[in-house]
Amino acid sequence: MNLTTKEASAATAHQPNDLASFWLPFTPNRAFKRAPRLIAGAKDMHYFTLDGRAVLDGTAGLWCSNAGHNRDPIVAAIKRQAEELDYAPAFQFAHPKAFELASRIAALAPGDLDRVFFCNSGSEAVDTALKIALAYHNVRGDGARTRLIGRERGYHGVGFGGISVGGIVNNRKFFGTLLSGVDHLPATYSREHQAFSKGEPQWGAHLADGLERIVALHGASTIAAVIVEPMAGSTGVLPPPQGYLQRLRAICDRHGILLIFDEVITGFGRLGHAFAAERYGVMPDLVAFAKAVTSGSVPMGGVIARQPVYDAFMRGPEQTIELFHGYTYSAHPLACAAGLAALDLYRDEKLFERARALEPAWADAAMALQGLPGVLDIRTVGLTAGIDLNPRAGAPGARACEIMDRAFREQNLMVRITGDTLALCPPLIVSAAQIGEIFDKIGQAIRAVT
Ligand SMILES: Cc1ncc(COP(=O)(O)O)c(C=O)c1O
Repeated sequence: MNLTTKEASAATAHQPNDLASFWLPFTPNRAFKRAPRLIAGAKDMHYFTLDGRAVLDGTAGLWCSNAGHNRDPIVAAIKRQAEELDYAPAFQFAHPKAFELASRIAALAPGDLDRVFFCNSGSEAVDTALKIALAYHNVRGDGARTRLIGRERGYHGVGFGGISVGGIVNNRKFFGTLLSGVDHLPATYSREHQAFSKGEPQWGAHLADGLERIVALHGASTIAAVIVEPMAGSTGVLPPPQGYLQRLRAICDRHGILLIFDEVITGFGRLGHAFAAERYGVMPDLVAFAKAVTSGSVPMGGVIARQPVYDAFMRGPEQTIELFHGYTYSAHPLACAAGLAALDLYRDEKLFERARALEPAWADAAMALQGLPGVLDIRTVGLTAGIDLNPRAGAPGARACEIMDRAFREQNLMVRITGDTLALCPPLIVSAAQIGEIFDKIGQAIRAVT
């Protein structure tokens, strides 16, 4: 791909002064600083490196940039907003675009998921949802419901709430005792029963019954909420078994437990619908979102609550604060402007429908890698794919890491890894030809790195 002059000059303008001071998140810092992977610019489906290479984005950044990168309408909206209103206090005051964006998100969400609380990231969205769930029971006089139920292999960000209900050992084991009163459902993945399934695997709905066991152990009257990712992304793309989420909903209903969907990855089109709740026809009580709400352009997260959940708080004297929670940057004007522009793009370019239409071709292209050396499983749903590789003896994660590095440096492709799983989730503007390019290059990298 040829760079325009503007893109090329942007791509050479940002050599860092030194690499020492910045402590990178979720990254092996020493290895990275020895051989950095630096990104200078982006446009649509591509990143641009400092040496001017165009790298095809197979990961929508970090599951964020669903409309593609540096889209003109989003950039223009952010610029306009910065000139008009840089910041407005988030407590006791508000600005019009916060209301506008909330109502647009509510209109996209199914059923009576109608009230939107804004924050700045997926982690904050999760902690906000957990706190709303606890407070909801409290304000209704059911304050003994304090337990939170997550799931093994779940990822809900890095706040103390999120890591407590999360189920990834390295995200938990260094950080003390976490929240008390948390229990976990079993993970939904079994290679033995599900390997090489396209979409939702047939096996595994019964795993939702783990919630009945937890209810039997603790008593329903102590449980506030269950939180799951409808499709577990960060742990390696685990689509829900057919019927699993419906069964979870039914058990929650039976016992008065709130159901929270963490849609930080699945929200805004990733699975071919505005929200996974719509794809699966399951109504959660609360939805956590972030990432693609602004197509990754400005940090933003939030929680969508069903109307009765919100209404439960709207009691007592009108001058009292109903929920003692919020962030200085809740509904930041730049994020709201970016969000409105992103939602316009999703609507005008029919990007959710596009993801749905591309899903079969995407799944076929991914599954064509079955049989390559060391490929243990491939999973797809919506425009996502997870490819499990056989780990090297004594060096877990090394093989996938080498593939990611090789793809970036030599094949001009960005892929994401978690352990020895490659994860893919391109912007929803990806073309059929680019889908072919992504999986061709991954196939070459898998063959090259043994
Ligand atoms: C399902 C889920 N929840 C929460 C988060 C945390 O989001 P953030 O990194 O914006 O805090 C992520 C991030 O990948 C996620 O995938």
